[in-house]
Order: sequence, then C-alpha cells, then structure tokens
Amino acid sequence: MDFKLTEEQIAVRDAARDFAQNVCKPGVIERDTNQTVPLEQIKQLGELGFMGMMVSPEYGGSGMDTISYALAMEEISKVDSSVSVCMSVNNSLVCYGLEKFGTEEQKQKYLVPLAKGEKIGAFCLSEPEAGSDATSQRTTAVDMGDYYLLNGTKNWITNGSTASTYLVVAQTDPEKGHRGINVLIVEKGMEGFEIGAKEDKLGIRGSDTHTLLFNDVKVPKENRIGEDGFGFKFAMKTLSGGRIGIAAQALGIAAGAYELALAYSKERETFGKPINQHQAIQFKLAEMATEIDAARLMVHRAAWLKDQGENYDVEGAMAKLNASDVAMKTTVEAVQIHGGYGFVKEYHVERLMRDAKITQIYEGTSEIQKIVIGRAVTK
Ligand code: CAA
Ligand code: FAD
Repeated sequence: MDFKLTEEQIAVRDAARDFAQNVCKPGVIERDTNQTVPLEQIKQLGELGFMGMMVSPEYGGSGMDTISYALAMEEISKVDSSVSVCMSVNNSLVCYGLEKFGTEEQKQKYLVPLAKGEKIGAFCLSEPEAGSDATSQRTTAVDMGDYYLLNGTKNWITNGSTASTYLVVAQTDPEKGHRGINVLIVEKGMEGFEIGAKEDKLGIRGSDTHTLLFNDVKVPKENRIGEDGFGFKFAMKTLSGGRIGIAAQALGIAAGAYELALAYSKERETFGKPINQHQAIQFKLAEMATEIDAARLMVHRAAWLKDQGENYDVEGAMAKLNASDVAMKTTVEAVQIHGGYGFVKEYHVERLMRDAKITQIYEGTSEIQKIVIGRAVTK
C-alpha cells in the first residue's frame, strides 16, 4: 500500500486549491444569494483542463487519474459546490459515459468539446415519478426507424440551462422493463426540447437545476449510446463512478468547514483563552479531523480501484454514504464552533451546511447507497 500522492497528483491538488481560493471564493456568497450560475468559473475550469480530467488527450481531455479528479473535486468543493457539481456531472457522468460507451462519431462530435470545456453536459435520468426507482421511466423513446420520438419530462437536471449536450434516459420497450431502456444524446435547440422551470434550492444555489420537457423530439438513431436496451446499465455504470465524484465533493465540503472552524477557534477567545483550548471544542475538532481523514481514505480507495480497472461499485457507494454523513455532521459542528457568527453568511459555514445536505440525496440517496452495499454484503 502506498499512501503517498504522486508529484502530478500534488500539482493537480495545488492548482485546484489556488483556483478555488482565487477564482471561486470571490463572489461566492453573492452567487449563492442570487442563484447566479458560476459561468466564468466553469469557463476557467475548462481552460485548466478540469472539465474532462480523465478523458484521453486523444479526445481533448487531460488524461489524468481518478485520484487527481477526487483531489480537485475536494479542493473546489471546500469553497463552491455549485462549481464542483457542474464539474462532476460533466466529468464523471457525461464525459465518462461517452468515452466508455460512445461510438467514434459520437466521441468526435460530442465528447471533444465537452472534455475541452467548450460545452457543458447534463445527465438526465430522474423524473417527477422516477428518482430512486430509476427503472420506472415514464419518458418514452419510440423507435421510428431512423430516429426515436422522445416524449416526457425530466426533473432536477443539473446544468439544465447551461448545458448543450444532454444524455437522456428513456423507455423504448416497456415490456422489456429495464432492458427496454435507452440513452439518447439530445442537443439543445432540437425541435420540441424545452428547458422548464429552475428550482429555488436550499443549497448549491448557484447550480442551475431545471425541469426539461420533451415533446415529440426527433432524435437520430445514431445518437443512441450502446446497443438497443443498454440505457439502464449505462446509467448504473456511469453513476458508480459519479458517486466517487460526489463523495469527493462531500469530503471537500466537510474539509472546508473544518478548516474554517479550526482557524476561527484559534482566534476567538472566551473566558480568557482561545476557544480551542476548551476541551469541548477540541473534542469536536478531533472528531472532525478523524472523520474527514477516514472519509478521504475511502474516497481515494474507490478512486484507486477505478484506476486499477477493478470493480468499485460498492466501494464508491460506501465512500459516498460515509462522506455525505461526515459532511452533514462536520458542517453542523462548524456552525456551532462559530457560535452566532456561524449563523450569518459572511463566515461561509452556514452555506457549507446547506450545501452538505444535497450530497445525501443526489446520485442516489443514502438509502440507495445502503441498498447497493447491503445487496453486495448479503449476496
Ligand atoms: N453496473 C452495471 N449494471 C448494473 C449496476 C451497475 N452498477 N447496478 C445494477 N445493474 C444492472 C443489474 O445487473 C440489472 O441488470 P440484469 O437484470 O440484466 O442483471 C439491472 O441493472 C437492474 O438492476 P436492479 O435489479 O438492481 O435494479 P433496481 O430496480 O433494484 O434498482 C438501484 C437498483 C441501485 C436502486 C437503482 O435504481 C439506482 O441506482 N437508483 C438510484 C438512481 C440514482 O442514483 N439517480 C441519480 C440521478 S443523477 C444525479 O443525481 C446527478 C446529480 O445529482 C448531480
Ligand atoms: P424518492 O426516490 O422519491 O425518495 C424519497 C425518499 O424515500 C428518500 O429518502 C429515499 O432514500 C427513500 N427511498 C426511496 N426508495 C427507497 C427504498 N427502496 N428503500 C428505502 N428508502 C427508499 N437527477 C438526474 O437525473 N440528473 C441530475 O443532474 C440531477 N441533479 C440533481 C440536483 C439536485 C439539486 C437535486 C435535488 C436532485 C438532482 N437529481 C438529478 C435527482 C436526484 O438524483 C434524485 O432527487 C434522487 O435520486 C432521489 O429521487 P427522488 O427525489 O425522486 O426521491
């Protein structure tokens, strides 16, 4: 076992840390308040090579490993998870899915601009009545010969209005159940594709989460990814890697809150000494540090397994389940350590606490991660 990061991984982490502090931090409170999409930050992320981090340079990506990706996700999420969620969807759901399962034509046409950060992708699985129960797709893609006729509604779609390329999961043959589901590449501007309402959210308020409506959209056959009926497996396989990205996001939220709480606890004095000299506060910091360390080890193990070409479905689910709980607990304690100051926007920890909650919900709720893990351990 080697717990040391390589020089390249350290360089990626440091570049992401600088980017988070210098590019993401300015204006983060205002963007959260006003629900402003961090377009400039996302553009610069693309220029840094962070929107297609693991994609081969042949397709415009940076050819990095998953550990580097997790390190970058952690650093950016310490400051702004509205930026990191866009990065996560683009990298681990859209680019990964296209590179792994797309045709050469699909890669040239869609993957290259996404990996370069010139365009943004969205992953459209959830529907008003199909979230956790993802096989219950109501959106239909009827086979019309040389195209599919797409009808239905997707909701909660991250990058809903900023994306140009949408991977849309839909039911083609209901009799075949999940084996009758396909995934189609839909372009913004296709006739009948409408971007619906934007959600007003508790956290990651800068991220644009939208309902999408498909009304008789004609999607060419060549835009189907994989064989007929591969759509559900496509979604499951991409989500397994996506969960490592969200675990790294949760880890970053926790670590960001911890760093703020630690710094504050050194400065704030009560009863004649810094608050970190009160054992109650020191114990909170000790627990936070320990739980963050454990979360980081789990995230890196899942990323390492993926890099080794081994199965990471369960380890990724475990990493997300654990890191999202650590994010929730740590951010609540970080607010507590700040006392009243923690309750106001200026000190950042209240935003991190609000952002932490989504990591227990998206890319599979904590209960869904337990189903994935539980089925594996009881098999
Ligand atoms: N890799 C490949 N195939 C897989 C798989 C995986 N990881 N997991 C399941 N499958 C296959 C199964 O083998 C099965 O195929 P066969 O019948 O041919 O063997 C098929 O998929 C159906 O599997 P299950 O019977 O296990 O299906 P299920 O109905 O019991 O559901 C589930 C399983 C894990 C609960 C799944 O529905 C699930 O993951 N739900 C959560 C959905 C989710 O995570 N949504 C996230 C949306 S994206 C998002 O949220 C992005 C964002 O916020 C930023
Ligand atoms: P439900 O599935 O209705 O679940 C409700 C509750 O019941 C949850 O606590 C759940 O864990 C629990 N539950 C459900 N089934 C079981 C069971 N069998 N056993 C035990 N407990 C169970 N989706 C996308 O496709 N693309 C995106 O880009 C995307 N981005 C998102 C961004 C945001 C901000 C949000 C809020 C959501 C996003 N989602 C996205 C959707 C997200 O993945 C779903 O919200 C999530 O999968 C849960 O689905 P649901 O909301 O329908 O909850």
